[in-house]
Amino acid sequence: MSSLNLENYWMPFTANKSFKADPRMIVSANGMYYKSSDGRDILDGTAGLWCCNAGHAHPKIVEAVSSAIKTLDYVPGFQFGHSGVFELSRQLAEIFPTHLNHFFFTNSGSEAVDSALKIALAYQRSRGKGTKTRLIGREKGYHGVGFGGISVGGIVKNRMYYGSLLSGVDHLRHTHNPEKNSYSRGEVEQGAELANDLENLVALHDASNIAAVIVEPVAGSAGVLPPPKGYLKRLREICDAHDILLIFDEVITAFGRLGSNTAAECFAVEPDIITFAKGLTGGTVPMGGVAVRDNIYQSMIDNADAPIELFHGYTYSGHPLATAAALAALDAYKSEGLFSNSADLSSYFADAAHSLKGINHIVDIRTIGLIAGIELESRPGAAGQRGFEVMKGAWDKGLMVRVTGDILAFSPPLIVSKQDIDQIFDCIAEVIRSVS
Ligand SMILES: Cc1ncc(COP(=O)(O)O)c(C=O)c1O
Repeated sequence: MSSLNLENYWMPFTANKSFKADPRMIVSANGMYYKSSDGRDILDGTAGLWCCNAGHAHPKIVEAVSSAIKTLDYVPGFQFGHSGVFELSRQLAEIFPTHLNHFFFTNSGSEAVDSALKIALAYQRSRGKGTKTRLIGREKGYHGVGFGGISVGGIVKNRMYYGSLLSGVDHLRHTHNPEKNSYSRGEVEQGAELANDLENLVALHDASNIAAVIVEPVAGSAGVLPPPKGYLKRLREICDAHDILLIFDEVITAFGRLGSNTAAECFAVEPDIITFAKGLTGGTVPMGGVAVRDNIYQSMIDNADAPIELFHGYTYSGHPLATAAALAALDAYKSEGLFSNSADLSSYFADAAHSLKGINHIVDIRTIGLIAGIELESRPGAAGQRGFEVMKGAWDKGLMVRVTGDILAFSPPLIVSKQDIDQIFDCIAEVIRSVS
């Protein structure tokens, strides 16, 4: 380790200087645990980055990827195919909402979002509604880091350094209301009326100019914000009334995080487009995608003005290794009942998280499915510092947690047990008590 040069690698979303002075290095992973370079077992409280839903080194996924690379290492996705990607799409059609039966593949959630926005625009044009070009996101939204995603996204630091972004974008107000919704379990009580912001934007621009609205059903990266009861349904109604596409960004919520296949299923609201990634391959091989409603796909196919219906795609769209990993992950989820495990444990998980109420510095706890957010009071003039210290303290005590600012996020692999849950929250309670 001492001979390793840390200088040349520019780490993403990381305090590089601080990390390189005191690195947290990982050498292997299995089941619920990482192994640190100093030989410690680190309990994974975050499924990596919300993605390792089947746990680490799942034998079925390991076997599928190992065998895939020996058989078919790469196929160009443009004008050529392989059976795996068609089979994956068929299986996804079975678990995604009824009318979303067409799948486009990307390598990440960010690319899924940018692809979804482009599909929305191309679709509106294909059916003769080419003036419908405005895109609507939401404050505090996180939709990855492409220019489309940061334009509709609403996290200031992710936007403020990057110029004028996409034009023709508006934002709904965010739904975070700590005064009215603190210490919540599941959907929050207050805030459904905020969906009416969409009506205001229709009044301002006219629906004939609006292509789509995109939201995370549960906002993750902004610090775990479950939706207000009735909010998503109301958005659906307004979109229907004005012929606007509704896009759910399910990069963290699809594949069991809420105990269901998708958040759309969990909240009984069917959007027109769903973006997904992360849990699709259990985080093992990069892959994301866009699920598209039948009428959108059909319109693009029927109204195409060139043999190629969508001028969009990636060299690695539908990569055979990623496809093999995804098929094996879906098999593991199904055969081991991991989405049911997630559903069954969600109330135990919520109880454990909420048991921390009253500990010094904690100002809010929010839970939904197998997601928990614990918000710490920020130190005056040093927002994020306490959260960062807690993340480091947890690492020292053998627990991986995610921190955004002073909000800690928990999203363990879906193989998690009650004992693991106790360990996660006992450990974090001890660490929070120990910071100033
Ligand atoms: C809701 C949402 N959309 C998009 C993304 C971006 O995904 P990726 O990091 O794979 O590009 C994320 C990542 O956390 C996400 O949470």
